[in-house]
Amino acid sequence: MKTGIRAKISALGTYVPPKILSNFDLEKMVDTTNEWILERTGIRERHLVEKGMAASDLAVGAVRNLVERHGVDLNEVEAIVLGTVTPDMMYPSTACLVQHKLGLKNVWGFDVSAGCSGFVFALTTGAKLVESGAHKKVLVIGADVNSSMIDYSDRSTCIIFGDGAGAVLLEPAAEGEDVGLIDFVHQVEGFGGEYLCMPGGGSLNPASKETVEQNMHVVHQDGQQVFKYAVKKMAEMTERVLHKNGLTGQDVDCFIAHQANKRIIMATADRLKMPHEKVIVNIDRYGNTTAGTIPLAMMTALEEGKLKKGDTLLIASVGAGFTSGASILKWAF
Ligand code: COA
Repeated sequence: MKTGIRAKISALGTYVPPKILSNFDLEKMVDTTNEWILERTGIRERHLVEKGMAASDLAVGAVRNLVERHGVDLNEVEAIVLGTVTPDMMYPSTACLVQHKLGLKNVWGFDVSAGCSGFVFALTTGAKLVESGAHKKVLVIGADVNSSMIDYSDRSTCIIFGDGAGAVLLEPAAEGEDVGLIDFVHQVEGFGGEYLCMPGGGSLNPASKETVEQNMHVVHQDGQQVFKYAVKKMAEMTERVLHKNGLTGQDVDCFIAHQANKRIIMATADRLKMPHEKVIVNIDRYGNTTAGTIPLAMMTALEEGKLKKGDTLLIASVGAGFTSGASILKWAF
C-alpha cells in the first residue's frame, strides 16, 4: 500500500555501560598487543556490562537518554522494534521486557534477529509500520550485550566486541518536509551462518553439560571469511542503494557503516570515493556493539557536527547470517 507517508527519525538516544575494557587490559588477559588490535581493527577500548545487566537494560538506558534529549512522551509510542542477538533470554522477546520496564501502555513489539544488521533491518521494519499509516510513533532500538557470549580466552573474538545500545523514534514526516527514510536494499545469505555463530542453546543444540564443555555458548568466528565477505558486500549494497536512487558517493553528506573493523569501513568509503571527513568512525571507543553501532555512530556524527538537518545519510551493515543492508535517509533534526 502506497500512502505517500515517509518515516523520519525524530529523536535519538544511546547508552553504553560505564565499565571500560582497554586494549591494555586485554594484553593482560590474552596473547595480544594494543598495537596489533589498533592496527588490525581500529579499536582502543570497549564498554562492558557488569554481571546482571542485560540487553533490555541497555535498551531502556538508550530510550531514557532519548527522552532526556528530546522530551518525547513515551505514552504516545505504539510499537517497539528491537534488533538484538543477545536477548535477555530465548523468550519472551526483549521488546516485551523493554515495554514492561518502561511501563508503556497500548504498545506492541518484537525482536529482529539479524546480527550486526539488526538495527538497519529494525529501522526499515519500523519505518514500514509508519509508512503504511498503521502507526504514528515507533521506537526502533539496537541493543547487544556481546560480552555475554564472548570467550575471553579467544584473542580473535574478545578484542572486537563491546556492549551498547541506541534508540530512535520514528514518526511520519510532515507533508512537504523532505526528510526520512528514502530507500533501502537488504539481503540474507545463509551460507555464511557457519562463519559467525553461537552454536549452542538453540533447538539444534539445547544447553547441556556437553554443549558447555564443548564451548558452544560463545561466539565462533572465522574472522578472515567474515572480513572478506564484509568488504565485498558492504561496497555492493551501498553502491546498489545509491544507484537505485540515481545517486553516487558524492551526493552523500554523511556515511555511517556498521563499526566492525575500521579497515572494512574505510575500504567501502574509498570504493564510493567518499572523503574521509564524511565517514563516521567511533569503533576506537566502543568496538563492535552489533545492533548498537549505527545509532551510537549517529550520536557521534551529531556531536562532531557531521550530521545536520536535511543531510543525506547513508547507513550500511553486514553481519552474522550473513545479513546485509544499506539505506538512504534525509536527516530530520
Ligand atoms: N592479537 C594478536 N594476534 C592475533 C590476534 C590478536 N588479538 N588475533 C589473531 N591473531 C593472529 C592470528 O592467530 C594469526 O596468527 P598466525 O599468522 O600465526 O596464524 C594472525 O594474527 C593473523 O590472523 P588473521 O585472522 O589473518 O588476522 P586478521 O588481519 O584477519 O584480523 C580480525 C583478525 C578478526 C580482526 C579480522 O579478521 C576481522 O576483523 N574480521 C571481521 C570480524 C568482524 O567484523 N566480525 C563481526 C562481523 S559483523
